[in-house]
Amino acid sequence: KLTKAVDSICDQFVITKSKISQLTEYFIDCMEKGLEVCESDISQNKGLPMLPTFVTDKPSGEEHGITMLAADLGGTNFRVCSVELLGNHEYRMEQEKSKIPTFFFQEDHHITSKDLFQHMALITHQFLTKHHKDHIQDYKWKMGFTFSYPVDQLSLRSGKLIRWSKGFKIGDTVGQDIVQLFQQELNDIGLPNVHVVALTNDTTGTLLAHCYTSSDTSRAINEPVIGCIFGTGTNGCYMEKIDNIHKLDPSVRRQLLAEGKTHMCINTEWGSFDNELNHLPTTSYDIKIDQKFSTNPGFHLFEKRVSGLYLGEMLRNILLDLEKQSLFDLKKSLLKNNPFILTTETLSHIEVDELDSGLENTKDALLEAVDLETTFDERVLIQRLVRAISRRAAFLAAVPIAAILIKTNALNQSYHCQVEVGCDGSVVEHYPGFRSMMRHALALSPIGPEGERDVHLRISKDGSGVGAALCALHADTMAVQTA
Ligand code: BG6
Ligand code: GLC
Repeated sequence: KLTKAVDSICDQFVITKSKISQLTEYFIDCMEKGLEVCESDISQNKGLPMLPTFVTDKPSGEEHGITMLAADLGGTNFRVCSVELLGNHEYRMEQEKSKIPTFFFQEDHHITSKDLFQHMALITHQFLTKHHKDHIQDYKWKMGFTFSYPVDQLSLRSGKLIRWSKGFKIGDTVGQDIVQLFQQELNDIGLPNVHVVALTNDTTGTLLAHCYTSSDTSRAINEPVIGCIFGTGTNGCYMEKIDNIHKLDPSVRRQLLAEGKTHMCINTEWGSFDNELNHLPTTSYDIKIDQKFSTNPGFHLFEKRVSGLYLGEMLRNILLDLEKQSLFDLKKSLLKNNPFILTTETLSHIEVDELDSGLENTKDALLEAVDLETTFDERVLIQRLVRAISRRAAFLAAVPIAAILIKTNALNQSYHCQVEVGCDGSVVEHYPGFRSMMRHALALSPIGPEGERDVHLRISKDGSGVGAALCALHADTMAVQTA
């Protein structure tokens, strides 16, 4: 009976070729709608958010300049770096990473914006003390700030938080200018000489860093076209023709065109694809995770099917359901009352475990993570569930890539054009087979096997350092030009 139930759940997670095509076409529609003028409230637009980033050029790799600071909030860690761009695709970087303390995600801790930005200012101070002791106060530091949540960007150096995602729920940050909040805390902690000059998203940073680091020879053949993240959350950006970005303020558009700019990087916020659930595959578990356990019900529904924060939670909810049907015994395990206790890392051990070895790694992983005792037969079924969840995630992950390539006609831009997609995030980097499954789905998508062969999914690790530094440099150059 348990086997039958698991079979039927796995069937619900299958994504067919025709589903991929339908989703890809719908994704293109949602991109187009998102570029239209929005009446008043950005959240009322039913398309994708498609947020202008004010980044209008892709770097060549020759950029160089003073040492910049970069700060990064958005994934598992808060990161502070100092980056010196050396030109010739090279850079020098010092960095410190610290896990974002879990109490920032807990509503009952009554965390305010001030607590969060104060914490970040403190870590920035510690970083400077450790790595640039002699220049903490006497140097005019320029900082690029990677803040990876949906932001209504007003310029390269300012933007207001639309809403939180990925587990944060600090109410008083929404609607605030993120740069001002951070700058205020930097000033208060005694670092008024650190100027946050650019605000960016991790996807934009990834695209810029990928352009910067890919060498000349490969650039002549492979064009970096998309920057994307498959980690705690998922999202992507690409360069759109300014002519197509109807929602841009007309005076900004005129000015950019007069300056000879043709494209602007758009942060799609594809985590919010199809929040209306017109076409996204939806199981009862998806609904439960969104409505009962997530901090942003009704939003980021694509992300909740694809990204690392949710994959383990999917397995937990399935196991809870099987227990409810008296088909599975959770015993004294920690699964029952602990949402999000199962991490994608645990799933990744189960994904590749070997039947021949009795699925011993699965046994250990489940015991260690959630104190769940399992029999071999149960582990076989759990592994099938894990593989169904991850395969659906990877197949869905291919949809935005195919859609952007089609919308921008990137695969037909030049003879034998090959394109590169710069990817970052724990899932794409560490989940076994994720990229291969994405490739498989790309071949099934409307770009077909021939298109898929021309797409290179590359891990690009330097987004929040090099990418943010490039943004800061860009902002600085623009400030000098307009002064
Ligand atoms: C990191 C980048 O490598 O990946 C961050 O520096 C990004 O900018 C992060 O947000 C995403 O991965 P994860 O798995 O930490 O969400
Ligand atoms: C979430 C955020 C988005 C970010 C992505 C990846 O979807 O809303 O801004 O880029 O996670 O970190």
